[in-house]
Amino acid sequence: MRLSATASALTITDRMTERARSVDARAATRPDILPQYDGYAQYPRYLQRAKGAYVWDVDGNRYIDFCLGYGPVILGHGDERVNGRAAAATANGGCFAPLWSPLQIELAELLTSVIPGAEMCLMLKTGSDATSAAVRLARIYTGRSAVLRWGYNGWHDWSVEQAAGVPTSVRENSRAFDFNDLDVLESLLSHGNDKVACVITMPFWDDQVEASHLSSIGEVARRNGALFVLDEMRSGFRVALGGAQQYLHVQADLAAYGKAMGNGHPISALVGRRDILSKLSDTKVSSTYFAEPGSMAAAIATIEILRDTDALDHVWRLGEVFQNGLKTLTSRFGSAIEVVGYPPMPFMRFQSEDATTRFAVEQHFYSKTTAAGLLLHPNHQWFLSAAHTTGDIYQALEVIELALETL
Ligand SMILES: Cc1ncc(COP(=O)(O)O)c(C=O)c1O
Repeated sequence: MRLSATASALTITDRMTERARSVDARAATRPDILPQYDGYAQYPRYLQRAKGAYVWDVDGNRYIDFCLGYGPVILGHGDERVNGRAAAATANGGCFAPLWSPLQIELAELLTSVIPGAEMCLMLKTGSDATSAAVRLARIYTGRSAVLRWGYNGWHDWSVEQAAGVPTSVRENSRAFDFNDLDVLESLLSHGNDKVACVITMPFWDDQVEASHLSSIGEVARRNGALFVLDEMRSGFRVALGGAQQYLHVQADLAAYGKAMGNGHPISALVGRRDILSKLSDTKVSSTYFAEPGSMAAAIATIEILRDTDALDHVWRLGEVFQNGLKTLTSRFGSAIEVVGYPPMPFMRFQSEDATTRFAVEQHFYSKTTAAGLLLHPNHQWFLSAAHTTGDIYQALEVIELALETL
């Protein structure tokens, strides 16, 4: 079946202003102090609060949240068990640099016990921190400079897709490879004159991956003297406690975790081989806030809950119900709509011959779903949390069915 929809003639700012009534509308009138972005109609710009599986915008509208802060909120927004531990940790002061809180040892013990191959760990704040630390260490360990990367690995110079603002010398030392083409990867590595320090990759993006394919990427990297680094920012503490390494039984030399590790508190970690992480003594990977104990307490609480309860099983079960429902709803569209991904992080992909039609269809679909109270990202994996219920999933499917009927 072919898809079609007509984009509204109103500008984005018109639509935002029309839709919103309070702070949202005010923000749309202040492009001088807030960057404007190309959005989709009906999306709220500002949220007032979030609890469990729901968020409320500044106009009081409630949404079932499938964005979950781009993935971190694995237990649900504002989880009191996690926030209580974080608050208790910061009640006695929280800014200890250059000294550490003993929570760091507790968290390191936990990470090394639940993540396969984690012999040692470094605590940081963001995903970009952790992937960049991995690249620095790979360069020190191998004495090489180049990086082959796949997926989104953060915003730093070596990983950003856009050339603007990135020196040519940095861009020459880092290039994206085709995840699905092992032959090209092999030739990039073998013709690289022993220059490639690491192959860093997400274990998968929107689509599922064969474990054997992921391990082949690691084998090709290592055979050519490069380190194999997994970016587990989205998959870690989500597809399994130990991420794709555990779920797919694929072992990296270094692996970067964050997001679901702290249920929304800002913390990430780089884990892996001790002989590589020990090279941290040759460099400086440091921040005033790396040792901040509140987020470490939040991470300890989150990981313990994920380890000791059936939270992740629940996320998988709900994801399966969601994906099966989506497959049924979209079957009449044939290949024009694909339901992809792993159940804890599914996605519905619109296919079209041209980008303009696809954008118009997506705009139409996502405007309908947002207006009906679902927060679904138009071009990023969706996420489920342990706070979502079967009722939320059925409600989401009902809304999606109605939106699909209008296409
Ligand atoms: C796979 C992956 N790696 C790295 C990052 C960067 O993490 P951060 O935004 O915390 O710097 C992200 C963020 O979305 C990500 O999805």
